[in-house]
Amino acid sequence: MEKEVKFSDETLALVHKIMKRYPEGKHKSAIIPILHLAQMEFDGWLSPETMDYVASILRIQPIEVYEVASFYSMFNLKPVGKCLVEVCRTGPCWLLGAEDLVRHIEKKLNIKDGETTADGMFTLKTVECLASCGTAPMMQIGETYHENLTCDKVDQVLNEYRQKGERVTHWDKKHIKAQQ
Ligand code: FES
Repeated sequence: MEKEVKFSDETLALVHKIMKRYPEGKHKSAIIPILHLAQMEFDGWLSPETMDYVASILRIQPIEVYEVASFYSMFNLKPVGKCLVEVCRTGPCWLLGAEDLVRHIEKKLNIKDGETTADGMFTLKTVECLASCGTAPMMQIGETYHENLTCDKVDQVLNEYRQKGERVTHWDKKHIKAQQ
């Protein structure tokens, strides 16, 4: 049976607090933090049902949510593993071996860029500059930057995440709470 798309009471309360920051009729302005909350609560990605649900809360058309969600690379429009491994592939990281790291991860996890491992643990995604060029090459997992990477360091990091076996979220409710 499919999981019902409905925020938990705690998250829904946060959603309403965020919406109250904007005047009536301007609730669409709350869309980015609410999409982050949705992605966090619904397994790390935004399904069409989730986006429709967000549209109904914001009282806007679903297409308006799709437009925003498909524009920003931090929103995933298809299922991802528990651990989304985002490797920067832009200039400085590329010059310092990002391509080799990506090939190494593909081989280690037996997946290609954009794919998820059979056990649902890892998804590999190459992304544009994550603003940590001074510590290139680097990758982001959840909220953590792993920097000055080598293949050995990547192995170590991935093994640690695999051992924990937990879902790593990109965002946390604490960001909202901190702003209240
Ligand atoms: S180029 Fe990789 S963080 Fe900027």
